[in-house]
Amino acid sequence: MRTVTREYGWAVAAAQWREATGQTRTPIPLGQKIFESTCGACHAVGRVLVGPTVTEIATIYAGNPGGIVAWTDAPGKKREGFPPMPAFKLGRENLLAVANYMLELASDKAEAADPGAKAAVEEP
Ligand code: HEC
Repeated sequence: MRTVTREYGWAVAAAQWREATGQTRTPIPLGQKIFESTCGACHAVGRVLVGPTVTEIATIYAGNPGGIVAWTDAPGKKREGFPPMPAFKLGRENLLAVANYMLELASDKAEAADPGAKAAVEEP
């Protein structure tokens, strides 16, 4: 019991130290930050906003984040019934980060939408 209490004490001390040094906040990945501040107003995973869904984009550009970069830097006019997308000249590094984030986002949501697959994996 004493050991447990001592370990608990260390955990609290560590948490206080992280708090004091500002390390409790998990840094938000660059791609997510850009997506949420710049793309999220028009693109969502399962819902058409101003632009096509992230799921559709991830299907078109599966394994090809560079394609998303090229489009975003200089978008074309592709879909009937959609306005043209404005260009975002954010630089290759930023665009690649957001492109990878979009591909990741779509695959995460695909997993979540198929809990059966996950339950099968978790079975002992
Ligand atoms: C103001 C709204 C708006 C914002 C903000 C926006 N988009 Fe779009 N996006 C659109 C629209 C509208 C289309 C569809 C254009 C078309 O098909 O002609 C589109 C289409 C796309 C496509 C599909 C291209 C294809 O080949 O089908 C990609 C990829 C994309 N956007 C990426 C991004 C990224 C990355 C960002 C953030 C940096 C972003 N968009 C921000 C409106 C937006």
